[in-house]
Amino acid sequence: MAASKWQRWCLGLAWAGATAATSLAASVAPVGAEHGMVVTAQHLATKVGVDVLRRGGNAVDAAVAVGYALAVVYPAAGNLGGGGFMTLHLADGRETFLDFREKAPLAATPDMFLGTDGQVVPGRSTRGHLAVAVPGTVSGLELARSRFGSLPRATLIAPALAYAEKGFVLDAGDAALLATATDAFRQDPASAAIFLNRGQPFEAGQTLVQRDLARTLRAIAQRGPDGFYQGPVATALVASSRAGGGLIRQADLAQYRTREMKPVTCDYRGLRVVSAPPPSSGGVVLCEMLQVLEGYPLKEWGWGSARAVHHQIETMRHAYLDRNTYLGDPDFVDNPVERLLDKGYAAQIRAAIDPAKAGVSKELRPGVPPHEPQEGNNTTHYSVADRWGNAVSVTYTLNDWFGAKVTAAGTGVLLNNEMDDFTIKPGVPNLYGLVQGQANAIAPGKRPLSSMSPTLLTRGGQPLMLLGTPGGSRIITTLLHTIVNVVDHGMTMQEAVDAPRFHQQWLPEPTNVEAFALSPDTRELLLAMGHRFAGPQPANHVAAILVGAPTLGSKPVGANRFYGANDPRRGTGLAAGY
Ligand code: GLY
Repeated sequence: MAASKWQRWCLGLAWAGATAATSLAASVAPVGAEHGMVVTAQHLATKVGVDVLRRGGNAVDAAVAVGYALAVVYPAAGNLGGGGFMTLHLADGRETFLDFREKAPLAATPDMFLGTDGQVVPGRSTRGHLAVAVPGTVSGLELARSRFGSLPRATLIAPALAYAEKGFVLDAGDAALLATATDAFRQDPASAAIFLNRGQPFEAGQTLVQRDLARTLRAIAQRGPDGFYQGPVATALVASSRAGGGLIRQADLAQYRTREMKPVTCDYRGLRVVSAPPPSSGGVVLCEMLQVLEGYPLKEWGWGSARAVHHQIETMRHAYLDRNTYLGDPDFVDNPVERLLDKGYAAQIRAAIDPAKAGVSKELRPGVPPHEPQEGNNTTHYSVADRWGNAVSVTYTLNDWFGAKVTAAGTGVLLNNEMDDFTIKPGVPNLYGLVQGQANAIAPGKRPLSSMSPTLLTRGGQPLMLLGTPGGSRIITTLLHTIVNVVDHGMTMQEAVDAPRFHQQWLPEPTNVEAFALSPDTRELLLAMGHRFAGPQPANHVAAILVGAPTLGSKPVGANRFYGANDPRRGTGLAAGY
């Protein structure tokens, strides 16, 4: 980046920070800005997005540029070799959703991860080329740009290309994340050649150059999706899959298409929630939980009170049973979305929640009312809002950090292990401990059920809140906490993101609790009601924006309209605007 441009960044950031809203509690203030806001998990990618906005691009342009930039500067989850979802609210009032989730290869079979004894072969669905599903990211970013963006493809890819070709200096958070995969990189020569420094982990202050990835980005800049799904890059992807025992062939790449779909929507205390439909479980489960909770006076009960926590845990328990039982790719299964989002169903769940006693997950089953019988971390999120009223919420992923921990030789493209998001065997937990059913069984060309939930809230037809996070199954409960914190408890975006969380997903039985989420007395009260607790799971990383004012009931600070919050739980990431 040229010095003058860098100075502009610093000035912009200093200005944005200096004019931020005053905080109401222990959190720092959210980052305030007048014209637009970008929050991502990597500071260079955030700056790429703000630069696009500054140069007159809209939020979709910025989101596309950030998507490509994260593939270079945040290789743990940013990607070309994975997939994701984009939820959009456009300035003209349209709401839409892009599904660029990975698909099972055409040669995939339901029992491909089982041994001859019918048991799951450990690691087969998570490491190596067999775990890789057909990537969707390039198709998704290009569809977003061509349909809703305003700038040329090459302009939006240029910053990513520069970071790949010339390299970028790793900061402590970047180096720490790379170091988590050192052993895995050592086992894959194509990854080792890029992500290790002569066989050793990179250190903060060293420069990561990705020349093969730069070549791949140049092919996409020149030829669009054909630069990835056809031609030399595709040939290299297929060759590397074949060599590694994977199933991806040219026919898989050639037939990949992003789907444009209607988002899932619901109302929560007068606000409109717009989120991810199946093949994500996110929007359905988030809305199901919000509609149950709407019947409880959470504000009156108070944040963190035993009563509020109990009802939130029980709501999560019921909703995750539905998630793991009924939902799957809508091209393959009939998702009972209307039933799950019916206000009457929310009332039935409330009636099934004992106000004084914890539920027992193993006693809640499909077929036990109100649930009908069953028929038949590492991800990354970013949020972008612009001055025209466009709001874009994107979650995309390789599934695990660095995906299947294999790189397609010659392309610089790290590949996902999204096949593990399918039901590998009913009743056997996946990477996120989710115990899932037949609706999410593997089938050729099918998309695995996801929890990724890029979400927007609107008020009076205008964007109000943008949010999302990585974290697999914990994504949906994290968004629930963040929304409830802002809407019910009047927190700023940063306070809502910082506040400690808990997570319950039906199975396993215990609720995972972050440090300080429960006071000792609250914990005592909940234990006496029969709750069981376990320690925290790996941290989420929420990237969120509140539009209008620092809190729902307050006034803007000066001219600032956008208030961004970067989750402090991980050592990378930045909220910035201009
Ligand atoms: N790969 C995590 C998810 O889609 O939920």
